[in-house]
Amino acid sequence: MLNTAALSESSQATGRILVVDDEPDFARGLTRLIASEFPDTECVTAHRGEDALAILAGRGADLIITDLRMPGMDGLALLGHALEIDPGLSAVVLTAHGAIETAVEAVKLGAYDFLTKPVEPGDLFGVVRRGLERSRLARENARLRELLSGGAPVLIGESPAMLRLRSAVAAIAQSDYPVLVRGESGSGKELVARLIHAHSSRAGKPFLAVNCPAIPETLLESELFGHEKGAFTGADKHRRGLFVEAGLGTIHLDEIGDISQSVQTKLLRVLQEHEVRPVGSNKTSRVEARVVASTNQDLEAKIATRDFREDLYYRLNVLSVTVPPLRERLDDVPLLAQYFLKTACAEMRVPEKTASPEVLAWLVRREWPGNVRELQNMMRRLAVFCTGESVDMTAVRLAEPAGHSSAQGQGATRAGIGPYKNAKAQVVNQFTDAYLRELLAATQGNVSEAARQSGLSRVALQKIMARLEITAEQFRR
Ligand SMILES: Nc1ncnc2c1ncn2[C@@H]1O[C@H](COP(=O)(O)OP(=O)(O)OP(=O)(O)O)[C@@H](O)[C@H]1O
Ligand SMILES: [Mg+2]
Repeated sequence: MLNTAALSESSQATGRILVVDDEPDFARGLTRLIASEFPDTECVTAHRGEDALAILAGRGADLIITDLRMPGMDGLALLGHALEIDPGLSAVVLTAHGAIETAVEAVKLGAYDFLTKPVEPGDLFGVVRRGLERSRLARENARLRELLSGGAPVLIGESPAMLRLRSAVAAIAQSDYPVLVRGESGSGKELVARLIHAHSSRAGKPFLAVNCPAIPETLLESELFGHEKGAFTGADKHRRGLFVEAGLGTIHLDEIGDISQSVQTKLLRVLQEHEVRPVGSNKTSRVEARVVASTNQDLEAKIATRDFREDLYYRLNVLSVTVPPLRERLDDVPLLAQYFLKTACAEMRVPEKTASPEVLAWLVRREWPGNVRELQNMMRRLAVFCTGESVDMTAVRLAEPAGHSSAQGQGATRAGIGPYKNAKAQVVNQFTDAYLRELLAATQGNVSEAARQSGLSRVALQKIMARLEITAEQFRR
């Protein structure tokens, strides 16, 4: 959705702008000019193409304005690499007066505009405003496309820990050995497993995730390895099992620390011999799938107590990667929060919302024992509770579960999160309460009008009001 009001009001433009020029004074002058007109933007400078690329590969930028003639990597080469790193980036080149051919070449390479030196402030402001809006839309479209297509998963985060994780994932994806993904609950282990698959030569083949503890022990064996018809009571059909069904794809064994001794033994055999024998069968089938296991448990401790087979551990742990807990990458909290807020709005099919700086600061301060999943849930709740475009502290007070006020800053899972049903009822009640109060305030306590606006019947509305002990009188003026 194009916000025309934002387009006409320069002061509202936000984003990160990278100015690249080998003359430090010129670069500084340009950033000062931009900052005076767009106070909400962040400007960074680089004086060499190589430095600019390092910035783009690290924290990134929304708009790059680069000189063309520079010692070392020139502007055109920089442009090519920059758009490779970030196709959503808007690029503007600075050309000497009259050097129109180079400007045309730059546009062919993907620059979206050019400015001639000496730069006219009016031209500069127009280009910056359009460039920032353009990359905002490009990023939004890319995200929505990805959401709609269910395409390759994205790992959000630019902290050093995340950059290391990304390169580990890329390296692991090149090989075909079993992988053990370790990390606390909700830190993103399954996402990492999916990424390894998506970046490997097995992409396009099945990815099957098996939540081991969720399947009763007696069934897990036949789920994984298959069974013959009549192998046990209830086995009325032959079943191939997930290892065979995964074919040339990847099988993700989630929470491997919890599997029984008998399944451990069978799994070891699969990893050693690359074959499975279905329950009740004397024939084996070949297993081609790659195994990616994950755990949030201390497998070494389980080995010490003989709860986990050491030989299986070594087979699974050929390659291992650890997803760091969110508290070790708090720099990523604002990025993740904005991303989850956007996806939550897309899921609810409501216009995009943004979190206020105050809310982002609060999210960074809060504890996240449930890691990224907890943050994702928080952003979903905030999207539900925030009625306007900006998520502010009012929404936080509504969204934060009772007993975990912002002042305490505690995560919800400290003392256990309680049953799903209760937690859901609590969230629904809080939402309904906030919704009704707003509705009745808007209609000044006129229940018929409130029923009309909300699409609820008068009787249903009155029942809900009674349950939540809300009276219409409170809102009459
Ligand atoms: N870096 C990230 N960028 C984007 N989304 C993320 C990131 N990390 C985790 N998520 C999302 O957070 C949610 C939880 O992640 P995931 O299921 O991978 O965690 P997990 O470690 O497997 O959790 P559990 O231990 O509970 O099985 C998922 O919806 C996942 O897509
Ligand atoms: Mg998981």
